[in-house]
Amino acid sequence: MHIAIIMDGNGRWAALRNLNRQAGHRAGARAADAVVRAAVRQRVDTLTLYAFSCDNWFRPRPEVEALLGLLRRYLITATDRCLEESVRINVIGRRHRLNSTLKAQIEQSERLTAGCSRMHLRLAVDYSSRLSIIEAGRRLRDTPLNAPAEYLRFLAAAVHSDPVAPEVDLLIRTAGEKRLSDFLLWECAYAELLFLDCLWPDFDAAALAQALEEFSCRQRRFGRIAAVKETSEIQAWKR
Ligand code: FPP
Repeated sequence: MHIAIIMDGNGRWAALRNLNRQAGHRAGARAADAVVRAAVRQRVDTLTLYAFSCDNWFRPRPEVEALLGLLRRYLITATDRCLEESVRINVIGRRHRLNSTLKAQIEQSERLTAGCSRMHLRLAVDYSSRLSIIEAGRRLRDTPLNAPAEYLRFLAAAVHSDPVAPEVDLLIRTAGEKRLSDFLLWECAYAELLFLDCLWPDFDAAALAQALEEFSCRQRRFGRIAAVKETSEIQAWKR
């Protein structure tokens, strides 16, 4: 089970409380922490959180610095707990524009949790799905592929995903917007999409449980037809 989340609505959550956007992001980081713990309890195999997109660099500098600082602090505090719960931390995306302290923390969190196997937690930072598809295509060169799923290996290498993550089963986006915003475009080919009005800082363990409940009611057909129970009518038709 691979769940991917576009954590949207921190700014609106803060505005509703007359707080600045940074306070919204801090509340968002607390929600992310709670959802990671809940996902472990729900036996999710892979959780990918969209923390900072390539386009987020165009936000005002203080907000960019606050977000990247928050990520570093999150990694510092979450690493010990992830070790206890056997959660493997992995930051996906591009690294050359990140500052050296954040890069060092990413490498440390990844190294320390490399042996963990209960859940693969991927934080997408300086991430663009379209750029990852281009980079994976460049690495592919003339390698023959027998199935689209084999391309996942090249996508993983393009964004430092270790191990290779499977395709997304459920994509959740909070805060009402109904778009993918350059997130896991290839990997979401057959994902179930769940758009929620709830602002990200309000998303919690109960909301995740509800999302999983909704997912369990979806009928996934992968382009085929639904498996139907053979009724007497169908048996008659076959004869
Ligand atoms: C979108 O809300 C959210 C982001 C661009 C950043 C997501 C970051 C966090 C949840 C905090 C850090 C994450 C971790 C894992 C520690 P927005 O700012 O676009 O909200 P708005 O649309 O209401 O303005």
